Amino acid sequence: MPSPPLRLAALLLCLAAAAADSPYRFFHWNVTNGTISPLGVPQQGILINGQFPGPEIYSVTNDNIIVNVFNSLNEPFLIHWNGVQNRRNSFVDGVIGTTCPIPPGRNFTYILQMKDQIGSFFYFPSLAMQKAAGGFGGIRIMSRPLIPVPFGPPADDFTLLIGDWYKNNHTILRRLLDRGKKLPFPHGVLINGRGPGATVFTVDQGKTYRLRICNVGFQNSLNFRIQGHKMKVVEIEGTHTLQISYSSLDIHLGQCMSVLITADQPPRNYYVVASTRFTTQVLTNTAFLKYSSSNTPASGPLPGGPTTQIDWSLNQARSLRTNLTASGPRPNPQGSYHYGMIKTVKTIRLASSAGQVNGKQRYALNSVSFVAPDTPMKLADYFKIGGVYRLGSISEAPSGAGIYTDTSVLGADYRTFIEIVFENYENIMQSYHLAGYSFWVVGMDGGQWSSNSRNQYNLRDAVSRCTVQVYPKSWSAIYIALDNVGMWNLRSEFWARQYLGQQTYLRVYTASTSLRDEYPIPKNARLCGRARGRHTRPI
Ligand SMILES: *[C@@H]1O[C@H](CO)[C@@H](O)[C@H](O)[C@H]1NC(C)=O
Ligand SMILES: *[C@@H]1O[C@H](CO)[C@@H](O)[C@H](O)[C@H]1NC(C)=O
Ligand SMILES: *[C@@H]1O[C@H](CO)[C@@H](O)[C@H](O)[C@H]1NC(C)=O
Ligand SMILES: *[C@@H]1O[C@H](CO)[C@@H](O)[C@H](O)[C@H]1NC(C)=O
Ligand SMILES: *[C@@H]1O[C@H](CO)[C@@H](O)[C@H](O)[C@H]1NC(C)=O
Repeated sequence: MPSPPLRLAALLLCLAAAAADSPYRFFHWNVTNGTISPLGVPQQGILINGQFPGPEIYSVTNDNIIVNVFNSLNEPFLIHWNGVQNRRNSFVDGVIGTTCPIPPGRNFTYILQMKDQIGSFFYFPSLAMQKAAGGFGGIRIMSRPLIPVPFGPPADDFTLLIGDWYKNNHTILRRLLDRGKKLPFPHGVLINGRGPGATVFTVDQGKTYRLRICNVGFQNSLNFRIQGHKMKVVEIEGTHTLQISYSSLDIHLGQCMSVLITADQPPRNYYVVASTRFTTQVLTNTAFLKYSSSNTPASGPLPGGPTTQIDWSLNQARSLRTNLTASGPRPNPQGSYHYGMIKTVKTIRLASSAGQVNGKQRYALNSVSFVAPDTPMKLADYFKIGGVYRLGSISEAPSGAGIYTDTSVLGADYRTFIEIVFENYENIMQSYHLAGYSFWVVGMDGGQWSSNSRNQYNLRDAVSRCTVQVYPKSWSAIYIALDNVGMWNLRSEFWARQYLGQQTYLRVYTASTSLRDEYPIPKNARLCGRARGRHTRPI
């Protein structure tokens, strides 16, 4: 009898012959409950193989990633692969609208392929507030050996998962939200799961290093900086960028970017700072960049963050551009897809709002506050189970109506090219993620979006990424080529808002049942709700 990995490989082979050439990487993850104290206070943590944060997934473009996740918690668990496109396979996306949770004491094997992707991403538990206990980790997708990378190999490559953090355990936070309360302001900022002063990156004098920095937090944009060192941005969520140096960078919720730093200063330790942006109370985490040849401690004032607020950040965002001549996951230049020349077939305008429904706090997109279905919508589609959701349950433009709850799904046709405008009438920073896709961030500005706003779009070298920020009382516009069939989560990365309804799904549909367009449901898919007892294969 073949070993479990071989059986799984065989299973994948019959699902997708196209994936067969690429290597397989197997992961066995045991998700357990343990105590962590990143801010000096013991709290309930979610560990993966005993680690917080969880282990990093290292992969190369097109690799098959087989992750057998054992849920040893006493509650359901589900992992979302933030930024991994799971092409033709939204069944494994790991959010409540696509995938059944893993029950306590059970396991589920995710079969992912890093198809046509490079870059820096992360995974996290998508249910409830579990992310507030851990269970997240980095994902890196390296270029294949023969594909040129527009910078030399770094001496080392560090992942920095930064984010604001609560001292409360996740059950307390969830209970607050379930009662319709808002969450308190977070209590600190973590770098790789550790509190201030605890993280050290060791470098050798004269060498160049890559840092992959992701904001895995709950509610705040962060500014990141290193004393005495410039950071050259080289990659943003899978796009190789123009290499421009910055002394500090704003990284918004859910976003990742890679920078190169060169250890070209006198050997000693230097402060590395991540601090909250646009907040009255500033939370800070300080780590250290240590030159291996020196024991001299860091000294001097902490490097200061930007003092001006939105304009500075907006200008920085606009300065981030695609390097059109560099290769992405394929050898052809990133600029060969002339997105600016393609006509959009429709515009979806989405505005957030906050309010109460039945005396409880809710958040909404175009007045609809999303409530989870009893059956993942993707499974309802697959098994043709009616009544789980309705297309058209969310309008394609804000109406200003009061907030109501529904299992909202936006419909769109496969192989169309669309525009989405995120409109923010609220006075807070927002950040949106679309699963399954990378999109061009063509424009952002203050005030109200109108069709004239298109005159200022960057139709040449905008960055293609999966998470976009929207400044207070501002808008951000994106273009998307809908080339990935499936049910894809479109959500606020402000986690309490996501939990209380500021999310929806984009159903990218084709009538075709060809394997070239969408894979069938994975043979091992868990079936829950009204899909329970169905068969993943004809019997
Ligand atoms: C997971 O870890 C727990 C605690 O260490 C252990 O009891 C359990 O057997 C492990 N399960 C698996 C599948 O490795
Ligand atoms: C969560 O935190 C509360 C308050 O600090 C504590 O009473 C409770 O025991 C914690 N729960 C777990 C499972 O750690
Ligand atoms: C973690 O363990 C504590 C103490 O045994 C328990 O109260 C809690 O419910 C567990 N939490 C999870 C998510 O398994
Ligand atoms: C659970 O783990 C076992 C042992 O590795 C494996 O054979 C099985 O396929 C896994 N179950 C699922 C649903 O992935
Ligand atoms: C863009 O990429 C090309 C090709 O790899 C490289 O030679 C060039 O230096 C890059 N330009 C900038 C400004 O990053």
